[in-house]
Parts: sequence; C-alpha cells; structure tokens
Amino acid sequence: AAQTATPKSSFNFTEITAGSDETHHAPEGYDADILMRWGDPVLPGAPAFDPQKQTAAAQKLQFGYNNDYIGYLPMPGAVDPSRSGLLVVNHEYTNEELMFPGLGGRQESKDANFGKMTKDLVDIEMAAHGGSVLEIRRDGGKWAVVPGSKYARRLTAETPIAISGPAAGHDRLKTSADPAGKTVLGMVNNCSGGVTPWGTWVTCEENFNGYFRGKAAGQPDEAKLKRYGAPANQYAWGKFYDRFDVAKERNEINRFGWIVEIDPFDPASVPKKRTALGRVKHEGAAGILARDGRYVVYTGDDERFDYVYKFVTEGRFDAQNRAANMDLLDRGTLYVAKYNADGTGEWLPMVHGQGPLTAANGFASQADVLIDARLAGDALGATKMDRPEDVEANPKTGKVYVILTNNTRRTDAQVDAANPRANNRFGHIIEMTPNDGDHAATGFRWDILVKAGDHTVAATGASFHPSTTKDGWFGMPDNLAVDGQGRVWIATDGNSPAKTGRGDGLWAIETEGALRGASKHFFQVPAGAEMCGPFFTPDDETLFLAVQHPGEADDEDPKAAPATFETPSTRWPDFKPDTPPRPAVVVITKKGGGKIAV
Ligand code: FEO
Ligand code: CA
Ligand code: CA
Ligand code: CA
Repeated sequence: AAQTATPKSSFNFTEITAGSDETHHAPEGYDADILMRWGDPVLPGAPAFDPQKQTAAAQKLQFGYNNDYIGYLPMPGAVDPSRSGLLVVNHEYTNEELMFPGLGGRQESKDANFGKMTKDLVDIEMAAHGGSVLEIRRDGGKWAVVPGSKYARRLTAETPIAISGPAAGHDRLKTSADPAGKTVLGMVNNCSGGVTPWGTWVTCEENFNGYFRGKAAGQPDEAKLKRYGAPANQYAWGKFYDRFDVAKERNEINRFGWIVEIDPFDPASVPKKRTALGRVKHEGAAGILARDGRYVVYTGDDERFDYVYKFVTEGRFDAQNRAANMDLLDRGTLYVAKYNADGTGEWLPMVHGQGPLTAANGFASQADVLIDARLAGDALGATKMDRPEDVEANPKTGKVYVILTNNTRRTDAQVDAANPRANNRFGHIIEMTPNDGDHAATGFRWDILVKAGDHTVAATGASFHPSTTKDGWFGMPDNLAVDGQGRVWIATDGNSPAKTGRGDGLWAIETEGALRGASKHFFQVPAGAEMCGPFFTPDDETLFLAVQHPGEADDEDPKAAPATFETPSTRWPDFKPDTPPRPAVVVITKKGGGKIAV
C-alpha cells in the first residue's frame, strides 16, 4: 500500500535545544538583537542609565521595568508599513531585589523589603511602571528607535488617566483627591494588551491588588476586597502614599483593575480606563472585528478558578473616520464564558437587571456589575478556569485561543470538561469556534488544542502531537501571537530548569491538519526570565519579543541562591560586573531578510 507522506511542518526553522543559561537563543539563521533595555532613554533629556545612582526623575524619562505586552502600529502613510511604526510596550511590575542595591530576598517576598523601601525607591518604582511609546524604523536590515520622536511617551503610576464608560463618576470611584470619580493617577501591573483597528493601544491592569496595603478584615468592603485578593501588601507604596492604603482611601482600589485605552499617535492625549470592559485582573485585550463591524475584545482574568470574558461594542468600526471610533469601547455588552461538557458554550451577558444581576443580589446598577465583575461572574455561574491568560482570535480561521496557564489547586472533585486535569501544573489551551463564525455570537463550540507538559511521560496527561520533540513541548503557556499567515506562537511563563529541564521561551504550534498539536521550540529566554510580548510586523519579517525579569532565581529550585542586585542569576544583556540584569525588547529577523519560519 502507498505510504502516506509525513505531514510537513508549517514552520520552517531548525528547532533550538530546550534548556537555560545566561543568555537568549534563537534558531540558526536568525538575528536576535536588543532594541531597548530598562533605563534606556525614551524622552528628551533622559540621562544615561546609572544603576548605582537611580532617580525617579531619570526613570520618568527612561524605558521602564519588566516589559510585557508589545504592540506594533504601522506609521500611517509609511512607504513600507512594516518598516516604520510605533512600538507600544507595557511595563508590568518591578523587581525591587534586582533593581536596587542592598535589598535582599526574592520577588515573592517583596514584603520582606518593606522596611528598607524609602520614598525615593518607591518613586523610582512608580516611574518604572506603566508603559512606553517608541517610534521605531528599520533602515537597511536593522531596527532602531527614532531619537527625539514627537511620539515618544512614558506612562507611569502617576500619569493622569480619565475614567470613562458606565462606571465613570460613580460614588464607589470617588476619592478625596478626585471627588468627581473621573480621573485617576496611573496604571499598574499592565500585563498584556492589544492594538485596535483604529490605531490605539489597549493595555490591561492585572495584579492591582498587590499595590495596596492594609487588611481586608474589618473594612466596609471586606467581602469585595477578599474576592480580589486585596490588599496583597506586595509593595511599600502605601507607606508614603495614603491612596495605596485601603484603610485610608477606601475607593482608590476600585479605580484599578481596568483596561486602559491610549492613543499613541497623540502624545498629549489623556488615556482612558474603559469601565465597560469590567474590573478583573485582566491579562490581555486582544480584539477582532465581528462580521457586522462591531469590535470584540477578549480578555482573561488571571486567577485560579476565574473567568474568561468578551466585550462586544454597540457601535461599529468606521475605517473612514478614526475620530468616530475613539470611544467605541465605552458602550457595549460584557459577557462571561460558560463551557458545557458537551463541547458547546455560552457567553452570558453581564447586564444589570438581567438574571441574578439585581439590586437584591448586591448589584444596584451597571457600575456595580462592572466594578465587581468577578462577583457578577459568580452570580451568573460562569466556568471556573485554570488561570485564564491571553485570549486571542486567529483572523485567518476565526478560531479563538484561550490560554490557561496552570492551576495546581484544582482537586479531582473540581475537574470539569474544560479544565480536565487536577493539580494542573502545566496548563492547557482551549480553542473556541464562534457560532456561524461570528465573534459577536453568544454561542460557541470548544475543544482542547493541547494539554501542556512533557507528553512522553504518561502521568502528565500532556497531549502534544507525538512528532513533538523533547525540545518542542512546553509548560505554562501565557501569551500568544498569530502571525500574518494565521500560524500560532506561544510564549511561556513558569518553566523551571530545575524541574522541567527548560527555561521559558517561544514555541510555534500547529493548529490545523494532521500535525495539530505539534510544537517546535523557537526562542529561549536568559536565566530567570519569562517570555512576553510576541508580536509580528504585518510582513512577518520581524518578531518583537519581551524578555521579562531576567536574573531571577529558579523558584522551583530549592538550592537556588536568592537572586538580588548583587547576585542575579544572569547579568543579561549587558554582562557587566556592576550592572544588574535589564528587562529588554528583542527583535528577531532572518539573516538576509525574509519572512520568519517560512
Ligand atoms: Fe502578568 Fe497573567 O501574567
Ligand atoms: Ca508577566
Ligand atoms: Ca502574562
Ligand atoms: Ca503568567
């Protein structure tokens, strides 16, 4: 009988070897260049990075810490849209122990540094949060930041941001500094995000609970605070700023946990917290146009046993009129996902007055539904997921990928069809197909693309395609990128060299055909880092990657020494003896040019 030919991989590159060392690795034939590091100048007058003499004034002009989401927006009218554009970058959080001399301890024990944190250090941290807008150009083969660009911008934990949408001005958003409840200073823990068809950047506040101090017990909002794990006392900001102490400023915490929209083409524009999209620990905000032109934003709430959401605008995108699109995200319907065991699912509307979302159940208005979105999801009976991270649609196939990073607290009794593994160490990826291919539809079908982990060890229950090599499997997926050809790439957060023989990185995964579920290793981060921000230029010739928190210790290695400013696990990317590791944006291009992995 005729042999069936071995199916051909959609990804043409030589897989790298899984592992971990002091530096980054890309496949043979590719350049991986550093574009921008923590402390590099963004705004005019920025001093050169001096880790021994940091100041908040300098940090406000320099690239922030822990780059996470990266989006690329082509410059309108550019001769080549893939060679000139704006790069928008989130600065999620800070690692005090790696940033500042003389502090000890790991990131997980930030509170141990509470006594050592001075106001000057807190002010540097606040300036290192938020985001950066950079104008970049590719001249010849290489990308560079355009110096002195009028678009260059830093956003921090102190940038004035308008509160817009249904909850704006609500009593629960009013503070002593803002009695109108319409302007908040700063955005924090901006993890992933998205860019819209009208050329704006949506960036998500994730673990905002960590910035607030105090105790939930005894507070008037005790139950609501507890549902958000707040206050988590991970930073010392509340020592110097009353607004970050829940006992001193009751409502400030209600002003964080939102999706923020920024117009990077207008550096004077005021960013807006879009309350219509709900308040949860948003991982990302990738969107896609529904067939009728309404815009649909998918978002995950990254917590064990929390939910997957989508927002559908009321208005339609108008490609001819940018101004008409600028507040589309203020009106629409928020939904939360329910996954049924038979492979169907429903988007449950989060609308005040409908179903259980009534005053009798604690929701006096739509503002309450949005501010307490987790409680509204509970009331609606949404499906409790294994930490929903990035949720992103593939425009080529219409399918939606939901990344569930892990959940080691799920017990056998709590296993369900959509979260099928107890003690889910390695996570999984769900594929959703909207009914009638319509992203605005309220019904969908779903399936599991892959259960992550080492598929050669039966006990893990991992389900990669058997052709996946020992280097090709991954655990703890976090973010995804879809390239211009509709191919899916997965970035990871939490692989442990000590436990799983590999650090984090980027993997390419087949989603269609006979090789569905086959994965190949493309990029490895330096020691201690996680992989964030995969984003392709429209021509697929450039891939932007964010290397976050390089130099941390392997937290699953009990023998690992504490990683500090003085003793990081790597000094990537500078490798100078007195320079700490620096989170940085890496640019991948093919030597000699051409599309990546083709
Ligand atoms: Fe900031 Fe869910 O990772
Ligand atoms: Ca992160
Ligand atoms: Ca993430
Ligand atoms: Ca993560």
